[in-house]
This record gives sequence, C-alpha cells and structure tokens, in this order.
Amino acid sequence: MAKVLIVDDEEFIRDSFGMTLERAGYNVLTAESGNEGLGTLAKHPDVACVVSDIKMPGMDGLELLAKIKDQHPTLPVIIISAHGTPEDAARAIKLGALDYFAKPFSAGEIEARIGKAIEHHNLAEEAATLREVVKQQAAPKVDFITASSGSMARLRETLERIAASDSTVLIQGESGTGKEVVARYIHTKSARADKPFLAVNCAALSAGLLESELFGHERGAFTGAERQRKGRFELARGGTLLLDEVSEIDVHLQAKLLRVLQEKNFERVGSSDTIKADVRVLATTNRDLNKAVREGKFREDLFFRLNVLPVVLPPLRERKGDIPDLARHFLTLHGRRMGREAPELDAEAAGALSGYGWPGNVRELENVLERVLVLENAKVLTGPIVRKYLGTEAPTATIKKEGGFILPGGEDDVPSIETIENKLIQFAMQRLGGDKNKVAEALGITTKTLRAKLKKLGVE
Ligand SMILES: Nc1ncnc2c1ncn2[C@@H]1O[C@H](COP(=O)(O)OP(=O)(O)OP(=O)(O)O)[C@@H](O)[C@H]1O
Ligand SMILES: [Mg+2]
Repeated sequence: MAKVLIVDDEEFIRDSFGMTLERAGYNVLTAESGNEGLGTLAKHPDVACVVSDIKMPGMDGLELLAKIKDQHPTLPVIIISAHGTPEDAARAIKLGALDYFAKPFSAGEIEARIGKAIEHHNLAEEAATLREVVKQQAAPKVDFITASSGSMARLRETLERIAASDSTVLIQGESGTGKEVVARYIHTKSARADKPFLAVNCAALSAGLLESELFGHERGAFTGAERQRKGRFELARGGTLLLDEVSEIDVHLQAKLLRVLQEKNFERVGSSDTIKADVRVLATTNRDLNKAVREGKFREDLFFRLNVLPVVLPPLRERKGDIPDLARHFLTLHGRRMGREAPELDAEAAGALSGYGWPGNVRELENVLERVLVLENAKVLTGPIVRKYLGTEAPTATIKKEGGFILPGGEDDVPSIETIENKLIQFAMQRLGGDKNKVAEALGITTKTLRAKLKKLGVE
C-alpha cells in the first residue's frame, strides 16, 4: 500500500482529504506543518507522494517543497492552495512541484493525480536502480566454465545443483582461481538469473563506507551523507549479492550481516524502518576462514551461516588438466577482442604451460596469454615462445632447499634486483598458498606494496 503524506495546518482538510485517499487504498500520513512533514519523511523514507498546502505558519509549503526536492529529488510533491496566486503556482512548478491545484478542487481530481505521480515515481526509481545495476553488470553472464580436469568437471556438476537451491554459498580458493566466475555461474544458472547480480568488495572499503554500501543510508545519517542512498541489499532485490573477500568485514558489521542472513531484513543506516531482504548471498574468501574463526577474527555463527554450501576451488597447479583448454579459451577470447585469429598451441607449448606453477592461478594464465597475443605474431605458439613468458623455470625450482637462490641465467650472469624480487614474490605466493597478507608479512612489505608488485607482474 503506497504511503501518501498530507501536510496542511487545517485539520478539516487533513481529515477529509485523508479519508478520500484511504478509501482509495492509500496509507495516509498527516503533518500539521512543514517541519513536522520533514520529520515524518525522515521516519518514513518509503512515502511515495507528498501533498502540501502552501500557506502554513512557520515553514510554508514552498519552503517545504524546496527542502524535499533537495533531499529526495525524485519524490513527487503536489501543492494545493486555498488562496494561491498565479505567482505561487509558477514558483511551485519552478521549484519542482509535480502539480499545483488551487481551490476549488475536488479530492477525486487530486487522487487521480497522485495515482499517476506514484506510478511515475516508481518507474523513475526503478530506472535509477537499473542504472546502478547495469553499471555493475557490465561483465557478461557466465554460463560456461572451462573444466577439463576431473576435479573441475565434478565441481561444475556440484555448481549446477547449488544453483538450483537458494542457500548461501561460501566460495573459498586462492587468489585468481575463479571465485567470481563461479559466483556468476551460480547466479546465471539459478532462478534469479533475470534479476541483478551485484558484487561488493569487502576489502576495498572502510567499515563505515561498507556498511552504507551494503545497507544504504538516510540523508544526514553521517557527515557527508547528503542524499538518501539505497544499499546493495536493496538494489539486488530478487537477485544475488556477492560479498567478495568476506573475511575482511569488521566485527561490528559481521553482526549486522548475520542478522540479515538470519532474519532476512535490515535497516538503512540512520533509519529505523525495516526493509525486507530478498537476496541470495554468495561470499568468497582467499583466507582460511576456519582459522580466522579460531583466532577470534571472524564470528563462528556467521561462518556457519555463510558456509551452508561450501565450494572450494583448487589452485591451478592442482588441476593441470584444465590448463591447455583454459589457455585456448583465453587465446580465442582475447584474440577476438584484438581482432585477430587465435594462434594454435602446440603440444610442447601446452606442456610448458602445464609445467609452470601458476602462483597467480587462472588470472596469471590469462594475463600471460594476453601478453603473448600482443607481442607474438606466430600462427602456432611453440614451447620456446611460450617459455619466454614464463621465466626460465617454475618458481619453486629457483629456490634451493637451504633457502639460497639458483640465480636465473648462466654462471656469470648477474640478474637484476627486479628479477630476483619477482622470483621471490612468485615463490612466496606459491609457498604460502597465494595468501597476500601472509606473503607481505613474510617479505616484510605492506600488503599494498605487494599488490602493486603483483600487478606489475600481471598476477593481480
Ligand atoms: N574456469 C574458468 N573458465 C574461464 N575463465 C576463468 C575460469 N576461472 C577463472 N577464469 C578467469 O580468470 C580470471 C580470474 O578469475 P576470478 O576473478 O573469478 O578469480 P578470483 O578467485 O575471484 O580472484 P581474487 O581472489 O583475486 O578475487 C577472470 O578473468 C576469469 O574470467
Ligand atoms: Mg574475486
């Protein structure tokens, strides 16, 4: 039932008009003054239309109109007036009123206008939501996952079954193993496929920003909250929400997230109105969440809530059978993008790719092949060509048991510090399971620096 707010200082108008609207099926709220009207709006962010008188003691209708337009630009406002002048009408329209009625008007007339206004408002809101969603959905639907190895083929079958359910899924795996691909695949194959798929990177935002990103906020909920904003839980309505790197959510937000998952409702920051959450939640992590639970960094109850359906993506080095097909897939994909035919991969090249350790997993493979496509013109990629892009040896082989390096190149060659650094990073990534926090700690650099270096390496 749509909510309509009537602001008028005359009790008689509020009552009679209110009754007409209630009979027409609206949920009517009333306020005696502009100030009270604003207060009511703050408490009921879902008001769909405001009807206000012009002449009121204190804040008049036009001032109220200006304030509403400032805070809720799309909310339709209709101005009514007992003794209004043509100038008032012009000002009201200029300030953004949807319509202006001077006495004598009939309640029925205004009611019809309200109906249209609400319909229009709903469409405008929907369009705004869609724009947000489209921005996020720029990536295509994933209805295919390359899976040639036994473990991935089995996983794909499991994913089909998972897609048919509506439970929460926790996708675990090293960086670059394809967690997001899996999440999109589940969405694409699910009954929610026609509804939005939205992703939030929980590691990229501060706790406060993440909270309003997820749940939205009311205007003035905190400094800088100039407008009301819908959160992802609202925008993804009917669809799927991916919480990427969920391990990074801080403890206070973990509690709030647990509540949405359990009770299926939430409030915008700064509001006490409860909103229903119709969203399937998928979460990913490249950290060992079990360990985070043991260490008291992640709530156990939340872990169980998320981990209803666990999916573990093996690192690429443990499913080498996928490598040649993935490689061909990327050569075709990026070849098409670059407007050139995909080169073939000969057996030796496929072997070279399969023999490499891939600390950056599928993403690293993809980046290497993109680089090959840019820099090589050969119609057939051979072992020697491909090896140029992998370094001389798989990273594990460059470290001796005692911890000393076998330096790349010949006996007398002195490699650059950068070469050594790259080798070291690749080694550490592989040894520590791709856990960037651990790697950074072990190498004595910040995670941010590590990320920058990985990016340069094409791993990030
Ligand atoms: N099975 C697959 N088939 C086709 N492409 C894949 C597959 N797995 C991964 N990719 C590609 O590899 C890249 C990395 O995948 P994705 O972003 O899903 O990894 P991730 O596990 O989410 O990584 P991170 O932990 O760093 O966020 C993407 O470009 C994705 O399209
Ligand atoms: Mg990801």
